[in-house]
This record gives sequence, C-alpha cells and structure tokens, in this order.
Amino acid sequence: MTAHGPASPLTARRAGPLAGIAHVPGDKSVSHRALILGALSVGETRVTGLLEGQDVLDTAAAMRAFGAEVERLAPGEWRVHGVGVGGFAEPENVIDCGNSGTGVRLIMGAMATTPISACFTGDASLRSRPMGRVTEPLALFGARAQGRAGGRLPLVLTGASDPVPVSYRLPVPSAQVKSAVLLAGLNAPGVTEVIEREPTRDHTERMLRGFGARVEIERDGPDRIIRLTGRPELTGQTIAAPRDPSSAAFPVCAALIVEGSDVLVPGVCLNPTRAGLYETLREMGADLVFENPREEGGEPVADLRARFSTLRGVETPPERAPAMIDEYPILSVVAAFAEGRTVMRGVRELRVKESDRIDAMARGLEACGVTVEEDEDTLIVHGMGPGGVPGGATCASRLDHRIAMSFLCLGMASRRPVTVDDAGPVATSFPGFRALMQSLGAAFEERAA
Ligand code: S3P
Repeated sequence: MTAHGPASPLTARRAGPLAGIAHVPGDKSVSHRALILGALSVGETRVTGLLEGQDVLDTAAAMRAFGAEVERLAPGEWRVHGVGVGGFAEPENVIDCGNSGTGVRLIMGAMATTPISACFTGDASLRSRPMGRVTEPLALFGARAQGRAGGRLPLVLTGASDPVPVSYRLPVPSAQVKSAVLLAGLNAPGVTEVIEREPTRDHTERMLRGFGARVEIERDGPDRIIRLTGRPELTGQTIAAPRDPSSAAFPVCAALIVEGSDVLVPGVCLNPTRAGLYETLREMGADLVFENPREEGGEPVADLRARFSTLRGVETPPERAPAMIDEYPILSVVAAFAEGRTVMRGVRELRVKESDRIDAMARGLEACGVTVEEDEDTLIVHGMGPGGVPGGATCASRLDHRIAMSFLCLGMASRRPVTVDDAGPVATSFPGFRALMQSLGAAFEERAA
C-alpha cells in the first residue's frame, strides 16, 4: 500500500478468529509535534517510536525545507537538529503536506511569526479542507495568507515581521487550531492565550513544557485557558512516542466483531483527551481490559486486551467527540455488529476531515446492507447483531485512511467480502496495517470480490 500512485483495491473476507499480539505504530499527533518542536529547538532532539507514515514523512521533509536537519537513524528512530524559535529559513520550494491537515496547520502556525513566506499545498483531499480556521487566528499575530476561495490550499503564508501575542477563543473544538496558535505564540513577545470550551488533545501543551516553554493552564468555569510565554529558548529533548490509540482502534475493534477473537495491543497511549472510543466500547459491553497501566514518555499507557463480544448500541454524548474524533468511522462499523441503535451526536467536525466521514461511512454502510440515519451533526447506525452484516459491496475510501481501514475491518466480520476501492491512503497513518492484521489471521485479497 502506498499513499500516492494508482488506486489499489483491497478485499477483506471473513476468516477464522483474530488472535495474537498487535504492535501498532507510534502516535501520529506526537510524531508531528516532536519533529516540529525539535526543529524549533536549539540542539539535538531524539525521537524513538516515530510513526513513519506518509503524513509524518511529509512533515519531516517540510522541517528540512525550513532549515532543520532531520535524519533517520534506524526504524522509528530519528534525530533533529533545530534552528531555534524564530530561526526558520524561507523554503526554496512549495511545501507539500500530502494528506495531512495536522502537518499543514501546525507548520503554518510554526512559521507565522517569522518574517518569511512559504507556499503550502497538499493532495486533493487536503486541498478541499478549510484553512481559514487557522489563517484567521494567525492574521491576529500579523501574518498574511493568500489562498484559493474559502482559504483553501494552495496558499501562501507570509509570517509577521513584528508579531504581537494574541488571545484567541477556539470557535471549533480543534487541537490543530489550538496548536497552530500556540506554535505561532512561540515567537511573539509576551503571553499568547488560547481558550477552549471542550478539551481537545493536549500533546502540544505537554510537549511545549517538555522542551522548556512556560505554559500555564487555568480552568475558568467551563473554559480551559492555556497561556504560553513567548520567545522561550527551547532545548532539544529525547521523546519516546507512545503507540497510537487511533491506530490501535482497528485491531481492537476487529477483535470485538470477529467471532472467537482474542487480541492484545501493547503500550497504547490512553491520554484522556484521546481515549473516548475505549470508554464507549466498554459502555457497549465490550470485553476490553486495560492491562498493566503505566506512564511512558509523559503519557498514560496500557496494554489493551480485546475479545469478541456481544455488543449493544449506545448513545455517544457530544462532549466526548473531541476525545474520539478520529474513531467514529471504526465505531460506526462496530455499531453495525451491535444489537440496537448507536446514536453518535455532536459529530459535525467529521464533515471536514480527510473526507466527509459521515457521508463516507453512511454510504458505505448502506452499500453493505446496514440502515443508517444522518443529519449535519449526527450519525445513527442500526445494529444487526454479531455476524449479522451482509457486506458484499465495494466501498469508496475517498483518499481517507480511516475510511479504508474501517471498511476492511467490516469485511473481516461481514457475511460476504467487502472491497475498498483504494487501500493506498492507509499508508498515511498505518503503513503496516495489512501485514499486522494478516498476522492476526485476517484474510485480504488484492482483486475485487
Ligand atoms: C489532530 C487533531 C484532530 C484530529 C487529527 C489530529 C492533531 O483534528 O482529527 O487527526 O494532531 O492535532 P482537529 O484539530 O481538526 O479536530
């Protein structure tokens, strides 16, 4: 599976139970941030467990283009020599962030308070996604962006030559927007403040502190206020990326829906801002145990043991959405094998992910014989019980890794095989997905069913 290149259809069919140990890759959010903060630091940063998916490789290339030295020493082990806060050089060429919204939005933030210009682009998925949510707050620092209609890529961003710190209330619950503002605040004198209502993933705040920045967090009623003191000297760090809970979701959920399965996924990051899916699965009655809970690299981790389960439909509350925002596609697959309806509320942000994930899941599930209801902000899946989903369809992956992996998991448990029209996008976040699932007993074929 490669992220670029001609479409590669892949079919998943029901085989025996899934069993064994599934080592999933390093966390994508942590990997992007480690490279970017390493590039903004003085001295050497060492990262182990870095996700070598295309999204992160594109961020590594971008950091080189801005003047940092970025080197792969061994699988998952990388070294970054940073240029320091405010030290980015003007890239000689266009920065292509591929499929990655996190990459492009965080990098725009990181350069927005340095007086250089850069032109950003990406693949067809990324070029269709809204960038105004980032360029608007960056303009408050004094940066200027010129892009296509609706703030879409390609766009040219010119960093502020005389940046001012800002106070910004997030209009949407987005860790990417929060992180872009905080990264821009690094090279603004004084205190930059971000206010969020719904807590979103907090890796940027944690890691900024780890690199030596002063970050204060205050709770004010329903608000969380993050204050960053600008112009710190960041110093290179050693970072061990924990394993990605969003990738772990696939072997875990596949084990829950494939009869007789028993799978262990070691060392998964269970930061509370990321663990909403696992809470939901337990509410559905999943046989899911957190073994050996511990702390690694400043993040809570545990070994997840998932066994085939008879599940019941649940209602997921809107306030949990940020903590499981990337997991709704695979949750909607699990919901199809539960008994009763699963109602997912407060999910409008899914419409602006790598694809419109509500529409992508609804159309694919319907093609597989599942009844689905949707509105702008809600997805409802009518469960058909264990082994009850007919399957037998080809589903469009729409340049979206999580849509592709979700339908492949569905095909592992449905009565008839399921094909995704293009499994290439899987390589953006989980290059070893196919081999790993096969090692557990999954059956894939390259030709369409
Ligand atoms: C991410 C934040 C989320 C998530 C994405 C990774 C991050 O996006 O969907 O996969 O690393 O900050 P939003 O901030 O747009 O919700």
